[in-house]
Amino acid sequence: MNYESLYVFVNFMSLRVIYDFDSPLCFQLVILMTQPIQADEAITPLFDYQSQTFKHIIEAQNLERTYQMGTVSVRAVRGVNLQVPQGEFLTILGVSGSGKSTLLHLLGALDQPTAGKVFVEGLDLSTLSHNQLADVRLRRVGFVFQFFNLMPQLTAQANIELPLKFSEVPTANAHRRAQELLEKVGLGDRRHHIPAELSGGEQQRVAIARALANNPRIILADEPTGNLDTNTGAEIIHLLRNLNQSQGLTFIVVGHDTRLTTVADRVIEMRDGEFVAEREGGGQVTVK
Ligand SMILES: Nc1ncnc2c1ncn2[C@@H]1O[C@H](COP(=O)(O)OP(=O)(O)OP(=O)(O)O)[C@@H](O)[C@H]1O
Ligand SMILES: [Mg+2]
Repeated sequence: MNYESLYVFVNFMSLRVIYDFDSPLCFQLVILMTQPIQADEAITPLFDYQSQTFKHIIEAQNLERTYQMGTVSVRAVRGVNLQVPQGEFLTILGVSGSGKSTLLHLLGALDQPTAGKVFVEGLDLSTLSHNQLADVRLRRVGFVFQFFNLMPQLTAQANIELPLKFSEVPTANAHRRAQELLEKVGLGDRRHHIPAELSGGEQQRVAIARALANNPRIILADEPTGNLDTNTGAEIIHLLRNLNQSQGLTFIVVGHDTRLTTVADRVIEMRDGEFVAEREGGGQVTVK
């Protein structure tokens, strides 16, 4: 395997964890390289979205995550309780190693807690099957990462169409949806660029558009400005806040960037796996 295929493989695996499709890996790789989108009919989601009621769009109860490393155990998340109302922009700040990513993975059904519970839109994740958890990751929660995690061989448009393909949205609809999303994040004229032909900020915009593809109401972002220069970081924060305000999307954003606190409705500080402080955020709509 040469370097390029290794890179594709690593990116592919990171998406695979999220969307969790079942076909053999090599088959999927061929599909991804040769026919980015090929689906004719929409599938019925595993849940009835309309009939569920919930008080908090995300809730964690006594959440624990301990990593066992041989004889050593690391308690990355320790007894976290969290209630997030729909439409909130919540920022969780903490130094490196405080457990932010671990917590975000638990909230987004990318990982399972050692103890405690997570509820997403009223669904108790501990009661869901493997397939239902995949459905939560695909349709209910959008993820944005520090290193974008775009497929390097695919254009901006095809990257955004990927989660639509996994939920079997018809090809024409997927094209249209991806184009709308590219316009929304200000990249209507970059549709045919692959990630290497985009700036870091533009790549993050594509990743945000991809997170929005299946219309989730929750976006989880892990250090979305961590790999960007100061101005580009401010633009991305502005975009996130804008999406939160204009569409009522709920955001949980973790990181070190204190500008995330100026736009947040609420700020929680995390240390050694625990919430140690909570305050109101600046609530600003624009970022300086
Ligand atoms: N897969 C793993 N196996 C073992 N320990 C882990 C694993 N992932 C994280 N940890 C440990 O759990 C703790 C929390 O890690 P986590 O990645 O959640 O921190 P973080 O706040 O996101 O840090 P950063 O700001 O550097 O991204 C750290 O002490 C880390 O070493
Ligand atoms: Mg982290």
